[in-house]
Amino acid sequence: MKRLSEKLSVTCKKLIFGHVGACIIILCILPVLFIGHSFFRGFDIKIEQMSADTEEEDLIVVGFSQLGSESGWRTAHTASIQQALTKDAGYFLIYNNARQMQENQIKAIRSFISQRVDYIVFAPVIEDGWDTVLLEAKSAGIPVIVTDRMVNVQDDSLYTAWIGTDAKEEGKKAGRWLETYLGQKRRQPEEVNIVVLKGTVGSTAEIGRTKGFGEIAAQHDNWHILESVTAEFTANKAKEVMRSMLRRYPEMNVLISQNDDMTMGAIEAMEEAGIRFGEGGDVTVISFDATRDALELIQEGRINVDVECNPVQGAYVGETIQKLEKGETVQKHYVVEEKVFTRENAEEFLEHRKY
Ligand code: AHR
Repeated sequence: MKRLSEKLSVTCKKLIFGHVGACIIILCILPVLFIGHSFFRGFDIKIEQMSADTEEEDLIVVGFSQLGSESGWRTAHTASIQQALTKDAGYFLIYNNARQMQENQIKAIRSFISQRVDYIVFAPVIEDGWDTVLLEAKSAGIPVIVTDRMVNVQDDSLYTAWIGTDAKEEGKKAGRWLETYLGQKRRQPEEVNIVVLKGTVGSTAEIGRTKGFGEIAAQHDNWHILESVTAEFTANKAKEVMRSMLRRYPEMNVLISQNDDMTMGAIEAMEEAGIRFGEGGDVTVISFDATRDALELIQEGRINVDVECNPVQGAYVGETIQKLEKGETVQKHYVVEEKVFTRENAEEFLEHRKY
């Protein structure tokens, strides 16, 4: 693996020997510095961090492309990677926030390749459309670790490992919980009128949760999915979408919201409209993620159940890199552990919930 000092020397050699004379070097360096500054500014990458500091010579250089900062969950996921890949642990981390745009992630990955990082870690915004850029990383000999969401690629060897959550199973857990709940309340024969707030269309979390819940729903003739609409995993959008759903579907009695941020927005819309929801209410609220704020809402009886999506994935990413450094084989797919939270167990976990 090339380390920081080697990368700098390669870059310097390219600059010095790629041009014929000192004049050309000066003439070339100024525009390069200018373009370089504008180029990297958009990627949160500080070129000066790649300095020849001797202390940094043995650091493992990791380029991390995060898909955005749309949710509380995402903030926790970013923090988990940053806390695992610290200088003290032997890493030099280059972080980029793609602001929900795949094209920004592709640009960031290309910039990591041109900087010849040792590893690329990325959380893909959607599943499709990664073959070309991952092939470029593979051709450059840079191992790619996918985290959180999955990629849909023709050739699995385009990434070294994936560490994330089982979104389809999360959707099934939501469906199974609803079955049990209706049973306990002796409400199985009732018409179940469901509205779904979906996350980013084409993302693993949206695809998996929709499929998983859909499979359980299909087993019940009296469960009707009235409409599924995306609110892009954000609270503001969810509030807007929910206002319109409440007008159109007064018969709605179950809300499936594919993340906690959207649930918060939907709750605000229901409060505004004077709808009773949660425990003892007219609308049963099923959420995903189980962030601290949501666990508090469970305790208050405003969310009925929250299917966990575990953002604490940084340590596993770090372990995977360490194994690769030693030349060991790594598990191709690693699913983090996840629970289901209701009023019965929320309190127990709230005390230690950091996000
Ligand atoms: O991919 C995980 C999902 O993305 C989380 O449920 C959501 O909160 C996030 O934005």
